[in-house]
Amino acid sequence: MCVGLGAVSTTFITGVLMTRKGLAKPVGSMTQYDKIRVGRGKDKKYLHYGEIVPLASLDDMVFGAWDVYPANAYESAVEAEVLKAKDIEPVRDELLAIRPMKAAFDRKYASRLDGDNVKDCATRREMVEALREDIRRFKKENDCDRIVVIWAASTEIYVPVDEAVHGSLASFEKALDANDTDRIAPSMCYAYAALLEGAPFIMGAPNTTVDIPAMWELAEKTKMPIAGKDFKTGQTLVKSGFAPIIGTRCLGLNGWFSTNILGNRDGLVLDEPANFHTKEVSKLSTLESILTPEEQPDLYADYYHKVRINYYPPRGDNKEGWDNIDIFGWMGYPMQIKINFLCRDSILAAPLVLDLVLLTDLAARKGRFGTQRFLSFFLKSPMHNYEEGEIPVNHLFKQYVMLKNAIREMGGYEADEEID
Ligand SMILES: NC(=O)c1ccc[n+]([C@@H]2O[C@H](COP(=O)([O-])OP(=O)(O)OC[C@H]3O[C@@H](n4cnc5c(N)ncnc54)[C@H](O)[C@@H]3O)[C@@H](O)[C@H]2O)c1
Repeated sequence: MCVGLGAVSTTFITGVLMTRKGLAKPVGSMTQYDKIRVGRGKDKKYLHYGEIVPLASLDDMVFGAWDVYPANAYESAVEAEVLKAKDIEPVRDELLAIRPMKAAFDRKYASRLDGDNVKDCATRREMVEALREDIRRFKKENDCDRIVVIWAASTEIYVPVDEAVHGSLASFEKALDANDTDRIAPSMCYAYAALLEGAPFIMGAPNTTVDIPAMWELAEKTKMPIAGKDFKTGQTLVKSGFAPIIGTRCLGLNGWFSTNILGNRDGLVLDEPANFHTKEVSKLSTLESILTPEEQPDLYADYYHKVRINYYPPRGDNKEGWDNIDIFGWMGYPMQIKINFLCRDSILAAPLVLDLVLLTDLAARKGRFGTQRFLSFFLKSPMHNYEEGEIPVNHLFKQYVMLKNAIREMGGYEADEEID
Protein backbone atom coordinates (compact mmCIF):
# COMPACT_ATOMS: atom_id res chain seq x y z
CA MET A 1 0.00 0.00 0.00
CA CYS A 2 1.50 3.28 -1.13
CA VAL A 3 1.08 6.45 0.84
CA GLY A 4 0.92 8.98 -2.00
CA LEU A 5 -0.16 8.14 -5.52
CA GLY A 6 2.11 10.59 -7.33
CA ALA A 7 4.98 10.25 -9.77
CA VAL A 8 7.00 7.62 -7.92
CA SER A 9 4.09 5.38 -6.93
CA THR A 10 2.42 5.40 -10.34
CA THR A 11 5.72 4.77 -12.13
CA PHE A 12 6.36 1.85 -9.81
CA ILE A 13 2.87 0.36 -10.13
CA THR A 14 2.70 0.84 -13.91
CA GLY A 15 6.13 -0.74 -14.31
CA VAL A 16 5.18 -3.81 -12.30
CA LEU A 17 1.91 -4.24 -14.21
CA MET A 18 3.69 -3.83 -17.56
CA THR A 19 6.44 -6.27 -16.53
CA ARG A 20 3.83 -8.81 -15.53
CA LYS A 21 2.39 -8.61 -19.02
CA GLY A 22 5.84 -9.04 -20.54
CA LEU A 23 5.71 -5.52 -21.98
CA ALA A 24 8.50 -3.92 -19.95
CA LYS A 25 11.68 -4.84 -18.10
CA PRO A 26 12.20 -3.96 -14.41
CA VAL A 27 15.61 -2.42 -15.08
CA GLY A 28 17.45 -1.17 -12.00
CA SER A 29 15.82 -3.63 -9.62
CA MET A 30 18.29 -5.65 -7.57
CA THR A 31 15.71 -8.28 -6.68
CA GLN A 32 14.94 -8.89 -10.35
CA TYR A 33 18.45 -8.72 -11.80
CA ASP A 34 21.29 -8.95 -9.32
CA LYS A 35 23.10 -12.20 -8.59
CA ILE A 36 24.90 -13.01 -5.37
CA ARG A 37 27.66 -15.51 -4.88
CA VAL A 38 26.91 -18.23 -2.37
CA GLY A 39 29.40 -20.85 -1.28
CA ARG A 40 33.15 -20.72 -1.87
CA GLY A 41 35.83 -22.36 -3.96
CA LYS A 42 34.53 -25.04 -6.24
CA ASP A 43 31.10 -24.91 -4.54
CA LYS A 44 30.47 -21.30 -5.41
CA LYS A 45 27.44 -20.31 -7.46
CA TYR A 46 25.94 -17.01 -8.48
CA LEU A 47 22.21 -16.95 -7.87
CA HIS A 48 19.38 -14.47 -8.26
CA TYR A 49 17.87 -13.27 -4.97
CA GLY A 50 14.72 -15.26 -5.68
CA GLU A 51 16.78 -18.44 -5.93
CA ILE A 52 18.32 -17.84 -2.50
CA VAL A 53 15.33 -16.57 -0.53
CA PRO A 54 11.56 -16.97 -0.97
CA LEU A 55 10.75 -13.55 -2.43
CA ALA A 56 7.17 -12.73 -3.32
CA SER A 57 6.72 -12.67 -7.07
CA LEU A 58 5.43 -9.70 -9.04
CA ASP A 59 2.31 -11.71 -9.86
CA ASP A 60 1.47 -11.91 -6.16
CA MET A 61 1.20 -8.17 -5.67
CA VAL A 62 -1.90 -5.99 -5.41
CA PHE A 63 -1.71 -2.24 -5.04
CA GLY A 64 -3.58 0.22 -2.88
CA ALA A 65 -2.89 3.86 -2.09
CA TRP A 66 -3.88 6.96 -0.21
CA ASP A 67 -3.61 10.45 -1.66
CA VAL A 68 -4.64 14.00 -0.93
CA TYR A 69 -5.90 14.25 -4.52
CA PRO A 70 -8.67 11.98 -5.82
CA ALA A 71 -7.03 11.11 -9.17
CA ASN A 72 -6.84 7.37 -9.82
CA ALA A 73 -3.54 5.73 -10.72
CA TYR A 74 -4.16 6.09 -14.46
CA GLU A 75 -4.96 9.81 -14.25
CA SER A 76 -2.08 10.38 -11.90
CA ALA A 77 0.41 8.51 -14.10
CA VAL A 78 -0.69 10.56 -17.13
CA GLU A 79 -0.45 13.78 -15.16
CA ALA A 80 3.01 12.94 -13.81
CA GLU A 81 4.34 12.80 -17.40
CA VAL A 82 7.04 10.34 -16.46
CA LEU A 83 5.92 7.56 -18.77
CA LYS A 84 4.81 7.72 -22.38
CA ALA A 85 1.25 6.73 -23.31
CA LYS A 86 2.54 3.52 -24.93
CA ASP A 87 3.86 2.42 -21.54
CA ILE A 88 0.64 3.23 -19.68
CA GLU A 89 -2.23 2.36 -22.03
CA PRO A 90 -1.75 -1.43 -21.99
CA VAL A 91 -2.49 -1.46 -18.25
CA ARG A 92 -5.02 1.34 -18.26
CA ASP A 93 -7.86 -0.72 -16.77
CA GLU A 94 -5.79 -1.96 -13.83
CA LEU A 95 -4.61 1.58 -13.16
CA LEU A 96 -8.12 3.04 -13.38
CA ALA A 97 -9.18 0.60 -10.66
CA ILE A 98 -6.59 1.93 -8.19
CA ARG A 99 -8.43 4.80 -6.56
CA PRO A 100 -6.74 6.49 -3.64
CA MET A 101 -8.29 6.28 -0.22
CA LYS A 102 -8.68 9.52 1.64
CA ALA A 103 -5.38 10.76 3.01
CA ALA A 104 -4.49 11.33 6.64
CA PHE A 105 -3.28 14.84 6.00
CA ASP A 106 -2.58 18.09 7.79
CA ARG A 107 -1.84 21.06 5.58
CA LYS A 108 0.56 22.42 8.15
CA TYR A 109 2.97 19.67 7.03
CA ALA A 110 2.81 20.36 3.27
CA SER A 111 1.28 23.76 2.68
CA ARG A 112 1.71 23.65 -1.10
CA LEU A 113 -0.85 20.86 -1.39
CA ASP A 114 -4.57 21.60 -1.36
CA GLY A 115 -6.38 18.45 -2.49
CA ASP A 116 -9.71 17.53 -0.94
CA ASN A 117 -9.39 13.74 -0.77
CA VAL A 118 -8.64 14.03 2.91
CA LYS A 119 -9.97 12.26 5.98
CA ASP A 120 -12.19 14.30 8.21
CA CYS A 121 -10.45 13.51 11.48
CA ALA A 122 -10.65 15.72 14.53
CA THR A 123 -7.61 14.20 16.21
CA ARG A 124 -4.45 12.26 15.49
CA ARG A 125 -5.92 9.26 17.31
CA GLU A 126 -8.88 9.34 14.90
CA MET A 127 -6.41 9.46 12.00
CA VAL A 128 -4.71 6.32 13.28
CA GLU A 129 -7.97 4.46 13.72
CA ALA A 130 -9.18 5.45 10.24
CA LEU A 131 -5.91 4.25 8.70
CA ARG A 132 -6.05 0.96 10.57
CA GLU A 133 -9.54 0.45 9.25
CA ASP A 134 -8.32 1.19 5.69
CA ILE A 135 -5.56 -1.40 5.98
CA ARG A 136 -7.89 -4.06 7.38
CA ARG A 137 -10.50 -3.39 4.69
CA PHE A 138 -7.95 -3.42 1.87
CA LYS A 139 -6.46 -6.65 3.12
CA LYS A 140 -9.84 -8.34 3.32
CA GLU A 141 -11.23 -7.02 0.03
CA ASN A 142 -8.12 -8.10 -1.86
CA ASP A 143 -7.67 -11.34 -0.01
CA CYS A 144 -4.07 -10.47 0.90
CA ASP A 145 -1.92 -12.60 3.16
CA ARG A 146 0.39 -9.74 4.00
CA ILE A 147 0.63 -5.97 3.66
CA VAL A 148 3.61 -3.64 3.32
CA VAL A 149 3.08 0.11 3.70
CA ILE A 150 5.52 2.41 1.92
CA TRP A 151 5.58 6.19 2.14
CA ALA A 152 6.01 7.65 -1.34
CA ALA A 153 4.14 10.82 -0.46
CA SER A 154 5.39 14.39 -0.31
CA THR A 155 8.12 15.41 2.07
CA GLU A 156 6.67 16.86 5.25
CA ILE A 157 8.14 19.82 7.10
CA TYR A 158 11.03 18.97 9.37
CA VAL A 159 9.97 17.50 12.71
CA PRO A 160 12.90 17.62 15.11
CA VAL A 161 13.13 14.70 17.49
CA ASP A 162 11.63 15.70 20.81
CA GLU A 163 12.54 13.28 23.58
CA ALA A 164 9.43 14.20 25.57
CA VAL A 165 7.17 12.95 22.77
CA HIS A 166 9.24 10.69 20.53
CA GLY A 167 11.54 9.21 23.17
CA SER A 168 9.37 6.22 24.08
CA LEU A 169 6.24 4.48 22.91
CA ALA A 170 4.42 5.49 26.10
CA SER A 171 5.19 9.19 25.63
CA PHE A 172 4.28 8.98 21.94
CA GLU A 173 0.91 7.41 22.75
CA LYS A 174 0.30 10.03 25.39
CA ALA A 175 0.97 12.75 22.81
CA LEU A 176 -1.30 10.96 20.37
CA ASP A 177 -4.12 11.05 22.91
CA ALA A 178 -3.36 14.69 23.73
CA ASN A 179 -3.60 15.39 19.98
CA ASP A 180 -0.18 17.00 19.77
CA THR A 181 -0.42 18.04 16.12
CA ASP A 182 2.89 19.93 16.22
CA ARG A 183 4.99 16.93 17.05
CA ILE A 184 2.99 14.06 15.61
CA ALA A 185 3.12 14.29 11.82
CA PRO A 186 0.49 12.53 9.70
CA SER A 187 3.26 10.21 8.45
CA MET A 188 3.72 8.99 12.03
CA CYS A 189 0.04 8.04 12.09
CA TYR A 190 0.55 5.91 8.97
CA ALA A 191 3.59 4.19 10.46
CA TYR A 192 1.93 3.61 13.82
CA ALA A 193 -1.22 2.23 12.14
CA ALA A 194 0.77 -0.03 9.79
CA LEU A 195 2.86 -1.56 12.55
CA LEU A 196 -0.18 -2.18 14.72
CA GLU A 197 -1.84 -3.92 11.78
CA GLY A 198 1.16 -6.21 11.37
CA ALA A 199 2.54 -4.48 8.27
CA PRO A 200 6.17 -3.40 7.84
CA PHE A 201 6.61 0.32 7.19
CA ILE A 202 9.11 1.95 4.82
CA MET A 203 9.84 5.67 4.72
CA GLY A 204 10.80 6.76 1.21
CA ALA A 205 10.89 10.49 1.91
CA PRO A 206 13.31 12.21 4.27
CA ASN A 207 10.70 12.51 7.03
CA THR A 208 11.93 11.55 10.49
CA THR A 209 8.78 9.42 11.00
CA VAL A 210 10.39 6.11 11.97
CA ASP A 211 13.69 7.61 13.05
CA ILE A 212 12.47 7.94 16.60
CA PRO A 213 12.80 5.64 19.61
CA ALA A 214 9.01 5.40 19.98
CA MET A 215 8.74 3.71 16.57
CA TRP A 216 11.73 1.47 17.24
CA GLU A 217 9.95 0.30 20.38
CA LEU A 218 6.71 -0.29 18.52
CA ALA A 219 8.53 -2.23 15.79
CA GLU A 220 10.11 -4.45 18.46
CA LYS A 221 6.80 -4.92 20.21
CA THR A 222 4.89 -5.80 17.04
CA LYS A 223 7.86 -7.77 15.64
CA MET A 224 7.69 -5.78 12.42
CA PRO A 225 10.53 -4.46 10.23
CA ILE A 226 10.93 -0.74 9.59
CA ALA A 227 13.18 0.91 7.03
CA GLY A 228 14.10 4.43 6.07
CA LYS A 229 14.76 6.97 5.02
CA ASP A 230 14.65 8.73 1.65
CA PHE A 231 15.13 6.78 -1.58
CA LYS A 232 18.75 7.01 -2.72
CA THR A 233 18.17 7.70 -6.39
CA GLY A 234 20.16 10.34 -8.28
CA GLN A 235 22.60 12.81 -6.87
CA THR A 236 23.06 11.05 -3.54
CA LEU A 237 23.58 7.71 -5.26
CA VAL A 238 26.35 9.32 -7.27
CA LYS A 239 27.76 10.90 -4.12
CA SER A 240 27.82 7.68 -2.12
CA GLY A 241 29.44 5.89 -5.03
CA PHE A 242 31.92 8.60 -5.95
CA ALA A 243 33.06 9.73 -2.49
CA PRO A 244 34.67 6.31 -1.91
CA ILE A 245 36.93 6.98 -4.94
CA ILE A 246 38.29 10.07 -3.21
CA GLY A 247 38.52 8.34 0.16
CA THR A 248 40.07 5.12 -1.15
CA ARG A 249 42.80 7.03 -3.00
CA CYS A 250 43.47 9.28 0.06
CA LEU A 251 42.81 12.44 -1.93
CA GLY A 252 41.74 15.54 -0.02
CA LEU A 253 38.43 17.39 -0.24
CA ASN A 254 37.93 21.15 0.00
CA GLY A 255 34.30 21.28 -0.96
CA TRP A 256 31.37 19.57 -2.62
CA PHE A 257 28.57 21.64 -4.07
CA SER A 258 25.48 19.80 -5.27
CA THR A 259 22.62 21.58 -6.96
CA ASN A 260 19.77 20.44 -9.11
CA ILE A 261 16.66 21.59 -10.92
CA LEU A 262 13.41 19.67 -11.07
CA GLY A 263 9.85 20.58 -11.86
CA ASN A 264 7.55 17.87 -10.56
CA ARG A 265 5.15 18.12 -7.63
CA ASP A 266 7.90 16.87 -5.34
CA GLY A 267 9.96 19.89 -6.45
CA LEU A 268 7.03 22.18 -5.79
CA VAL A 269 6.67 20.90 -2.22
CA LEU A 270 10.44 21.10 -1.66
CA ASP A 271 10.40 24.71 -2.83
CA GLU A 272 8.92 25.51 0.57
CA PRO A 273 11.89 26.16 2.91
CA ALA A 274 10.47 24.15 5.83
CA ASN A 275 10.00 21.10 3.58
CA PHE A 276 13.38 21.57 1.90
CA HIS A 277 15.06 21.57 5.30
CA THR A 278 13.92 17.97 5.85
CA LYS A 279 15.53 16.99 2.54
CA GLU A 280 18.67 18.99 3.21
CA VAL A 281 19.34 17.24 6.50
CA SER A 282 18.92 13.89 4.80
CA LYS A 283 21.15 14.72 1.82
CA LEU A 284 23.91 16.31 3.86
CA SER A 285 24.44 13.27 6.03
CA THR A 286 25.82 11.15 3.15
CA LEU A 287 29.29 12.59 2.77
CA GLU A 288 30.09 13.17 6.41
CA SER A 289 30.12 9.50 7.27
CA ILE A 290 32.23 8.50 4.23
CA LEU A 291 34.95 11.16 4.35
CA THR A 292 35.55 11.62 8.03
CA PRO A 293 37.81 14.27 9.55
CA GLU A 294 38.31 12.10 12.66
CA GLU A 295 40.06 9.44 10.58
CA GLN A 296 41.87 11.72 8.13
CA PRO A 297 42.25 15.23 9.56
CA ASP A 298 44.72 16.27 6.83
CA LEU A 299 42.29 15.34 4.10
CA TYR A 300 38.78 16.02 5.36
CA ALA A 301 39.01 18.53 8.19
CA ASP A 302 37.18 21.54 6.81
CA TYR A 303 35.41 20.71 3.60
CA TYR A 304 32.40 22.77 2.64
CA HIS A 305 29.35 20.71 1.72
CA LYS A 306 26.33 22.41 0.23
CA VAL A 307 23.14 20.94 -1.24
CA ARG A 308 20.53 22.95 -3.15
CA ILE A 309 17.30 21.94 -4.87
CA ASN A 310 15.62 24.38 -7.23
CA TYR A 311 12.05 24.11 -8.44
CA TYR A 312 12.03 24.65 -12.19
CA PRO A 313 8.73 23.58 -13.81
CA PRO A 314 9.88 23.12 -17.45
CA ARG A 315 11.92 20.05 -16.53
CA GLY A 316 9.09 18.13 -14.88
CA ASP A 317 10.35 14.83 -13.49
CA ASN A 318 13.58 15.00 -15.50
CA LYS A 319 15.95 16.30 -12.90
CA GLU A 320 19.30 17.74 -13.82
CA GLY A 321 21.93 17.63 -11.14
CA TRP A 322 25.32 19.29 -11.04
CA ASP A 323 28.07 18.40 -8.64
CA ASN A 324 31.21 20.44 -8.35
CA ILE A 325 33.86 18.69 -6.30
CA ASP A 326 36.98 20.55 -5.21
CA ILE A 327 39.61 18.02 -4.35
CA PHE A 328 43.33 18.30 -3.65
CA GLY A 329 46.25 15.97 -4.26
CA TRP A 330 49.99 15.61 -3.74
CA MET A 331 51.37 18.54 -1.69
CA GLY A 332 47.89 20.07 -1.57
CA TYR A 333 47.51 20.96 -5.27
CA PRO A 334 43.82 21.62 -6.11
CA MET A 335 41.78 19.88 -8.80
CA GLN A 336 38.12 19.86 -9.77
CA ILE A 337 35.63 17.21 -10.78
CA LYS A 338 32.27 18.09 -12.40
CA ILE A 339 29.40 15.66 -12.64
CA ASN A 340 26.32 16.51 -14.66
CA PHE A 341 23.59 13.91 -14.20
CA LEU A 342 20.55 14.23 -16.43
CA CYS A 343 18.35 11.75 -14.67
CA ARG A 344 14.72 10.83 -14.40
CA ASP A 345 13.65 10.96 -10.80
CA SER A 346 10.83 8.47 -10.74
CA ILE A 347 12.51 6.09 -13.20
CA LEU A 348 15.32 5.79 -10.66
CA ALA A 349 12.98 5.55 -7.68
CA ALA A 350 10.54 2.92 -8.99
CA PRO A 351 12.92 -0.10 -8.79
CA LEU A 352 13.88 0.94 -5.27
CA VAL A 353 10.24 0.87 -4.23
CA LEU A 354 9.91 -2.64 -5.62
CA ASP A 355 13.08 -3.88 -3.93
CA LEU A 356 12.27 -2.27 -0.60
CA VAL A 357 8.77 -3.72 -0.57
CA LEU A 358 9.85 -7.25 -1.53
CA LEU A 359 12.80 -7.30 0.86
CA THR A 360 10.89 -5.86 3.80
CA ASP A 361 8.15 -8.41 3.28
CA LEU A 362 10.81 -11.11 3.18
CA ALA A 363 12.45 -9.78 6.34
CA ALA A 364 9.12 -9.93 8.19
CA ARG A 365 8.60 -13.55 7.15
CA LYS A 366 12.13 -14.38 8.26
CA GLY A 367 11.38 -13.01 11.73
CA ARG A 368 13.49 -9.87 11.38
CA PHE A 369 12.07 -6.84 13.11
CA GLY A 370 13.08 -3.29 14.01
CA THR A 371 15.44 -1.24 11.85
CA GLN A 372 16.58 -3.13 8.74
CA ARG A 373 20.14 -1.88 8.27
CA PHE A 374 20.72 -4.11 5.26
CA LEU A 375 18.34 -1.89 3.30
CA SER A 376 20.65 1.14 3.71
CA PHE A 377 21.83 0.43 0.16
CA PHE A 378 18.55 1.89 -1.11
CA LEU A 379 18.36 4.85 1.24
CA LYS A 380 19.86 8.29 1.36
CA SER A 381 19.92 8.69 5.11
CA PRO A 382 19.84 5.23 6.66
CA MET A 383 18.19 4.74 10.02
CA HIS A 384 20.58 4.24 12.91
CA ASN A 385 20.35 4.18 16.66
CA TYR A 386 21.75 7.63 17.48
CA GLU A 387 20.90 7.10 21.15
CA GLU A 388 23.63 4.46 21.21
CA GLY A 389 25.99 6.53 19.05
CA GLU A 390 25.62 4.24 16.05
CA ILE A 391 27.06 5.69 12.83
CA PRO A 392 25.01 5.05 9.68
CA VAL A 393 26.75 3.33 6.78
CA ASN A 394 26.53 5.56 3.69
CA HIS A 395 29.37 4.07 1.65
CA LEU A 396 27.57 2.44 -1.31
CA PHE A 397 29.85 -0.57 -1.52
CA LYS A 398 29.80 -1.30 2.21
CA GLN A 399 26.02 -1.07 2.00
CA TYR A 400 26.07 -3.57 -0.86
CA VAL A 401 28.06 -6.02 1.28
CA MET A 402 25.43 -5.63 4.04
CA LEU A 403 22.64 -6.28 1.53
CA LYS A 404 24.29 -9.38 0.08
CA ASN A 405 25.07 -10.81 3.48
CA ALA A 406 21.53 -10.34 4.74
CA ILE A 407 20.21 -12.19 1.68
CA ARG A 408 22.79 -14.95 2.19
CA GLU A 409 21.88 -15.29 5.86
CA MET A 410 18.14 -15.33 5.18
CA GLY A 411 18.80 -18.02 2.60
CA GLY A 412 20.75 -20.15 5.06
CA TYR A 413 24.19 -19.38 3.63
CA GLU A 414 27.25 -18.03 5.37
CA ALA A 415 27.88 -14.27 5.30
CA ASP A 416 31.26 -13.12 4.01
CA GLU A 417 33.19 -10.01 3.08
CA GLU A 418 34.81 -11.19 -0.12
CA ILE A 419 34.46 -8.71 -2.98
CA ASP A 420 33.13 -10.09 -6.24
N1 LIG B 1 11.88 10.35 -7.16
C1 LIG B 1 12.96 10.39 -6.47
O1 LIG B 1 14.04 10.31 -7.02
C2 LIG B 1 12.89 10.48 -4.99
C3 LIG B 1 14.04 10.26 -4.27
C4 LIG B 1 14.01 10.31 -2.89
C5 LIG B 1 12.82 10.59 -2.26
N2 LIG B 1 11.70 10.84 -2.98
C6 LIG B 1 10.51 11.18 -2.23
O2 LIG B 1 9.43 10.38 -2.62
C7 LIG B 1 8.23 11.11 -2.38
C8 LIG B 1 7.33 10.99 -3.60
O3 LIG B 1 7.90 11.67 -4.72
P1 LIG B 1 7.01 11.95 -6.00
O4 LIG B 1 7.90 12.48 -7.04
O5 LIG B 1 6.14 10.78 -6.29
O6 LIG B 1 6.08 13.14 -5.47
P2 LIG B 1 4.63 13.52 -5.96
O7 LIG B 1 4.40 14.92 -5.47
O8 LIG B 1 4.43 13.24 -7.42
O9 LIG B 1 3.68 12.52 -5.19
C9 LIG B 1 3.49 12.58 -3.83
C10 LIG B 1 2.00 12.44 -3.55
O10 LIG B 1 1.83 12.36 -2.15
C11 LIG B 1 0.60 12.93 -1.83
N3 LIG B 1 0.56 13.19 -0.40
C12 LIG B 1 1.15 14.18 0.32
N4 LIG B 1 0.89 14.06 1.62
C13 LIG B 1 0.14 12.95 1.75
C14 LIG B 1 -0.45 12.29 2.87
N5 LIG B 1 -0.29 12.76 4.12
N6 LIG B 1 -1.16 11.17 2.65
C15 LIG B 1 -1.33 10.68 1.39
N7 LIG B 1 -0.81 11.27 0.31
C16 LIG B 1 -0.10 12.39 0.48
C17 LIG B 1 0.55 14.13 -2.73
O11 LIG B 1 -0.78 14.60 -2.91
C18 LIG B 1 1.18 13.62 -4.01
O12 LIG B 1 0.23 13.18 -4.95
C19 LIG B 1 8.66 12.55 -2.06
O13 LIG B 1 8.62 12.75 -0.68
C20 LIG B 1 10.06 12.59 -2.53
O14 LIG B 1 10.86 13.54 -1.83
C21 LIG B 1 11.70 10.77 -4.33
